[in-house]
Amino acid sequence: MKNENKMNYDFSNRIVLVTGGTGALGRSITSAFIESNATVISSYVVDREIESLKKDSKPILQLVKADVQKEDEVEKLVSDILGKYGRIHIVVNVVGGYLGGKSVWELDEKIWDRMMTINLKTAFLISKHVVPQMISSKDGKIVHISSKTALKSSGYDSAYAASKSGLIRLVESLSEETKESNINVNCIMPNAIDTEANRTAMPTADFTKWVKPEDLANVILFLCSDEAKVITSAAIPTYGIG
Ligand SMILES: NC(=O)c1ccc[n+]([C@@H]2O[C@H](COP(=O)([O-])OP(=O)(O)OC[C@H]3O[C@@H](n4cnc5c(N)ncnc54)[C@H](OP(=O)(O)O)[C@@H]3O)[C@@H](O)[C@H]2O)c1
Repeated sequence: MKNENKMNYDFSNRIVLVTGGTGALGRSITSAFIESNATVISSYVVDREIESLKKDSKPILQLVKADVQKEDEVEKLVSDILGKYGRIHIVVNVVGGYLGGKSVWELDEKIWDRMMTINLKTAFLISKHVVPQMISSKDGKIVHISSKTALKSSGYDSAYAASKSGLIRLVESLSEETKESNINVNCIMPNAIDTEANRTAMPTADFTKWVKPEDLANVILFLCSDEAKVITSAAIPTYGIG
């Protein structure tokens, strides 16, 4: 969808990796970077209908299949991009997922492991493999997607809340480790996003109170711009004002 409120950033000559770039939020982020003239590599894992994203885009979008839960696939993803473009300037890691509804004593170990893997391990692996070339170039921006739930659980979401909370500590640690190298590492903390999946899961909710993917994309582009060069190690509340 065209983002009418987009700031006029110019990311020409910037190579941007959006992991999970074909999901609900990822599509908006991918589109916003394309509209800002970035070269975007958008990764996904499930073969699905991605033709509309391809159709809407200029030839500066490349879609790559990679399961970022697996270190060898992350390594290959990063080295293939570096082989083709020479640099990755910006990484927005949108990969994540939610499984909730169970108390701690009802929670299956597999769900716990799934949340830790999809929300936290993926962020670790992506960060681990993109940072060395950013340190060499003394230039880089990384944004992860945490959640409001990272700060305060409402119950019945322990695995998700703990994984998104852990992500904030990962961001802080990486930020401290890279701040001398002119690398900004931040995350945003959305509340419910206005996605088709959420509308289907919560049909009686007031959708007008949910934050729009395009508005989150605007915050992310700002964090990846020179205007935000003094922001690092932040977990930014992006709850909307509804
Ligand atoms: N939706 C919300 O209300 C909400 C609220 C707070 C935070 N968040 C966070 O925001 C982010 C985006 O949420 P969303 O609603 O846009 O989710 P989504 O539509 O399910 O998108 C998730 C993306 O992650 C990708 N992905 C999943 N497993 C992967 C793997 N192993 N390797 C590579 N990619 C993988 C998916 O790829 P495929 O398309 O190939 O499956 C998809 O592109 C997530 O981190 C989520 O936790 C969402």
